[in-house]
Amino acid sequence: MSARGRVAGRPVLLVAGARPNFMKVAPIIRELRARSIETVLVHTGQHYDKAMSGVFFEELEIPAPGYSLEVGSGSHAVQTARIMERFEPVLLGVDPEWVVVVGDVNSTIACALVAAKEQYPVAHVEAGLRSGDLSMPEEINRLVVDRLSDVLLASSDDAVANLEREGYDSSKVALVGNVMIDTLELSLSRVTQADVLERHGLVADSFALVTLHRPSNVDDPDHLVALLETIVAGLPLHRIVWPIHPRLRNVALHIPSEIELIDPVGYIDSLALQREARMVLTDSGGIQEETTVLGTPCLTLRESTERPVTVSEGTNRVVGVRPADIAVAIADELSSRTEPRRPSLWDGRARFRVVDALYPDVQSEG
Ligand code: UD1
Repeated sequence: MSARGRVAGRPVLLVAGARPNFMKVAPIIRELRARSIETVLVHTGQHYDKAMSGVFFEELEIPAPGYSLEVGSGSHAVQTARIMERFEPVLLGVDPEWVVVVGDVNSTIACALVAAKEQYPVAHVEAGLRSGDLSMPEEINRLVVDRLSDVLLASSDDAVANLEREGYDSSKVALVGNVMIDTLELSLSRVTQADVLERHGLVADSFALVTLHRPSNVDDPDHLVALLETIVAGLPLHRIVWPIHPRLRNVALHIPSEIELIDPVGYIDSLALQREARMVLTDSGGIQEETTVLGTPCLTLRESTERPVTVSEGTNRVVGVRPADIAVAIADELSSRTEPRRPSLWDGRARFRVVDALYPDVQSEG
């Protein structure tokens, strides 16, 4: 435990900054509040467009952040440094009992580093995920954040095994399940009512959903176009829809006309599109998990995954980024259908176990 130790009665400070963070903090804040534990949310502003941030606060009913650091975009060093600089006085002012960080984005590492140096206890939600690929900035973030954390909250057995292999003391590690699936479960009735298919004239099972945003896939236009042409050639009878990440605004001109670009979608629409698509082709981490629970085939256009349970138990296939391999995988997927199983503890109740790990003495009413 960090030197400051926990001081009961102080708030829990939670950090969110980028799109994939919001669905992870939402259920944890909800459960902390249900147990009358005060929360303070810090939004770093890593993502700031309404479509990347504001819409998630509305849809997930996340309380307004106590502090908005408004750091915006920049190189990794600039963004991380700016978050650290602005987070430090907030942390010292709030003086929390716990600092809770989620996932693997630059906001996660920046705030974990500041908190650890100030000797505040850090809890990492989604600890232990490893792709083994240090060319991904997120992998560097994962390794460092876990090292700095006092409590490592893992979403799957493989994550626990990774932490054991790296020598973490098992008393610091708890298998709590996947909080993203809590948010998914809590949102399903609204997903059923979503009209995103009608708005885009889409018919269930007759379209493919593409989401690509990793620098390794999208920063080289030739590589990106080769991927997209392979997808178009493999799915001549399906419409192909891509809610495009803002980092791609500049390359939109190179994209084959068969790919229908739409603006980034909110959380509910994203789940509705995933659920009704014939298949999803993605390089996202969270979408590998959501498609597993929704039962939609997922082709991951990357060389590795930090979420192997979505392959061993879910609907995911890691197909790499070579056009020939992607073409084979699409054809395979069109001629078969996998029956998914749910990974253990992806049961919609992870938030209770997260808060149990932080406050074993404060009972849940859920
Ligand atoms: C970040 C995460 C990545 C996650 C992704 C989800 C890191 C290292 N990466 O990548 O793990 O999968 O979020 O979206 O933290 N931009 C906007 N508006 C916004 C946000 C970004 O226009 O609201 C543009 C800017 O041009 C910016 C670029 O997107 O430079 C990249 O944003 P950044 O936060 O640096 O990383 P992401 O690619 O979004």
